[in-house]
Amino acid sequence: MKKDFITYQAQTSPHPLAMEVSHAEGSYIYDSNNKAFLDFVAGVSACTLGHKHPKVNTAIKEQVDSYLHVMVYGEYIQKPAVELAKLLASHLPDSLEKTYLVNSGTEAIEGALKLAKRATGRSEMIAAKNAYHGNTMGSMSVMGYEERKQAFRPLLPNVSFIQFNDEKDLEKITNKTACVILETIQGGAGFIEPTNNYLNKVQKRCKEVGAIFILDEIQPGVGRTGKLFGFQNYNCVPDILVTGKGLGGGMPIGAFTASSKLMDLLQDNPKLGHITTFGGHPVIAAAALATLKEVTESYLMAQTLEKEALVRKHLVHPLITEIRGKGLMLAAMTPSAEITNEVVLQAKDAGLILFWLLFEPKAIRITPPLTISNEEIIKGCEIIINILDGIKTN
Ligand SMILES: Cc1ncc(COP(=O)(O)O)c(C=O)c1O
Repeated sequence: MKKDFITYQAQTSPHPLAMEVSHAEGSYIYDSNNKAFLDFVAGVSACTLGHKHPKVNTAIKEQVDSYLHVMVYGEYIQKPAVELAKLLASHLPDSLEKTYLVNSGTEAIEGALKLAKRATGRSEMIAAKNAYHGNTMGSMSVMGYEERKQAFRPLLPNVSFIQFNDEKDLEKITNKTACVILETIQGGAGFIEPTNNYLNKVQKRCKEVGAIFILDEIQPGVGRTGKLFGFQNYNCVPDILVTGKGLGGGMPIGAFTASSKLMDLLQDNPKLGHITTFGGHPVIAAAALATLKEVTESYLMAQTLEKEALVRKHLVHPLITEIRGKGLMLAAMTPSAEITNEVVLQAKDAGLILFWLLFEPKAIRITPPLTISNEEIIKGCEIIINILDGIKTN
């Protein structure tokens, strides 16, 4: 199978981890030799409720037995999508009331950028240095990491970058700006939290100049930071909220949410301002609805902060210089990219799944399912500490 994987399936890196997956359940993924791997990554913050969660699986199965795709987005009334959008609105501030469902995070970013241009009649976009918003052309245009996008230029014009958390840069947001797009917590950059009421200041500046404030919650969203959405920790409300990843509970989804006044602009001038065939797919929406219900009706969100404290307590080692992030969106920093690589690769041999962050080579990603148990957290931390002990004495 590995040979076929390398030969026939397009690769994104020369050295994929290439674990052959047999099945997955709870906090574990099993390989084709039935070896269990404790999952500290959750499909890169996507498997909110772990693997094979009974409520998600039941919702999927029931929907499969009713209907699959029946019509392009937005024409027919399909209960899972309607209920999902309604439940989202019930947990959001009043101004975030209407949701457009799409198929992936990057597609939701594209929709949000289009909506901002349509609403303001302006074209200038401001994003943050080291930001990651996805890999299609528009999302890549607002990615703040030149090395990864150079080969794909020309991208969208009129994009400029500010330093996340630097208030001085806010003066670059002017009445020519269509939108400011930021991650609530910068992911690829190394799980950088906003400080000093920064997001609130960005929101105010956007309001002053009539720019749309977009927050990308594709990674922190859906309970991972102890609140349903990360922005709820930071005293701000975006004009457009973008979600994805963990919303689908293991199924592919993206969504952008805004006021009706904004969102209704996509209905005319031009008509069909944003369209998609599969967005709001009934099976995906059913999985997302089950996930959102479970996250909002259980103790999982509150426990996320206790679990963060547990990671911080058990991940103490001279080679861990800092633990960044919030809730179960954590990055353990080591002194070098080499040490981080060693830890991630050795962890796999030891039955623990870890991963990297996109632009910060010293970071070890720790983003387990929200359903991970305290015992599993301690077990995973012990594996990391043992590996670090070995590296220290080499
Ligand atoms: C903050 C952020 N935005 C956008 C995306 C893109 O989402 P997708 O991979 O579903 O297109 C990601 C994915 O890693 C992300 O972390």
